[in-house]
Amino acid sequence: WKIPPNVQELAAAGRDELPSRYVVPHHDRPTSGVASDDPIPVVDISRLSSGAADEAAKLRSALQNWGLFLAVGHGIEPALLGEMMAVTTNFFNLPLEEKQKYTNLVGGKKEHQLQGYGGDMILSESQVLDWSDRFYLIVEPEPRRLYDLWPTQPPSFGDILHRYSTRCRELAEGVLREVAKVVGLREEGCLVDMLDENAVTYVRLNLYPRCPRPEEVLGFRPHSDASVLTVVLNNAAGLQVLRDGEWYDVPVVPGALVVNLGDTVEVVSNGLLKSPVHKVVANSESKRVSVAAFYTADPEREVEPAPELVSEEKPRRYGKMKNSDYIRKLHESLARRERAIDRVK
Ligand code: SIN
Ligand code: FE2
Repeated sequence: WKIPPNVQELAAAGRDELPSRYVVPHHDRPTSGVASDDPIPVVDISRLSSGAADEAAKLRSALQNWGLFLAVGHGIEPALLGEMMAVTTNFFNLPLEEKQKYTNLVGGKKEHQLQGYGGDMILSESQVLDWSDRFYLIVEPEPRRLYDLWPTQPPSFGDILHRYSTRCRELAEGVLREVAKVVGLREEGCLVDMLDENAVTYVRLNLYPRCPRPEEVLGFRPHSDASVLTVVLNNAAGLQVLRDGEWYDVPVVPGALVVNLGDTVEVVSNGLLKSPVHKVVANSESKRVSVAAFYTADPEREVEPAPELVSEEKPRRYGKMKNSDYIRKLHESLARRERAIDRVK
């Protein structure tokens, strides 16, 4: 395959025609999101932690109906969210040569590693590419950080990324304790304990440039996350979630973070909760910037349905799989436009 052009540069060139590698087949094309009678819930985490029963009920319905919600009252300082968004935006605003110092192409060749700056992960020449540029970094555990790939401008980049992902992990932990209750796991710490010292936190900075023909592309193809839980900061609309065969817009609420369940929770809960399928649509008006933090389990951990959720009435719906094998499958499945979780059934 050829190294794909940089989407941001393509967009800046201002041509009206899109390279065919970005044009999505008709059946996959984006539609405007449906407005729901049952809106995606906005959950106040501070009320949840003070034991408010109505807030817990709201979270329960969010998890059961959407697998996704907006978190407010999460206690993460607005200034830190602002700084994370600013360093991300500034990074993508750097000249291309500057960004390419952090390339994910190994030895400047065609092979890519996960971490670093680049476009869609490519497995074949015929693959339709997403209309976005990305920058992937492993933040935890610390020994896995590739500091050579951590931007040094501004000098506070690393510190902001570290503080941001730590604060979001605390949010994720609180949510996972509640998720365990909703599912009825015998051990309430069972999910939160997956974010142990060997758990891997991936952060992906995303840039979705303006697109002259947003109806022909996808910013990010439909998928569900190979995480336990994902936390997303974003500055504009574009994220959509699939429910009962329809795509719904995830609203943008200032100061709120999007929290979604990952495939690990779907497997452990034996399908009681679903890891939502979501995608990002492009738009012709403005660029969109987002920061996705993926809290994933120890790569060596074997993930399978909790035994107490498997019975004669509720047969086991997923096999056992080592998490690192699962994450590898996710990347292959993404390229093939399949869902990785369908391969552990
Ligand atoms: C993703 O699914 O990882 C993209 C999230 C986003 O950009 O909102
Ligand atoms: Fe995702």
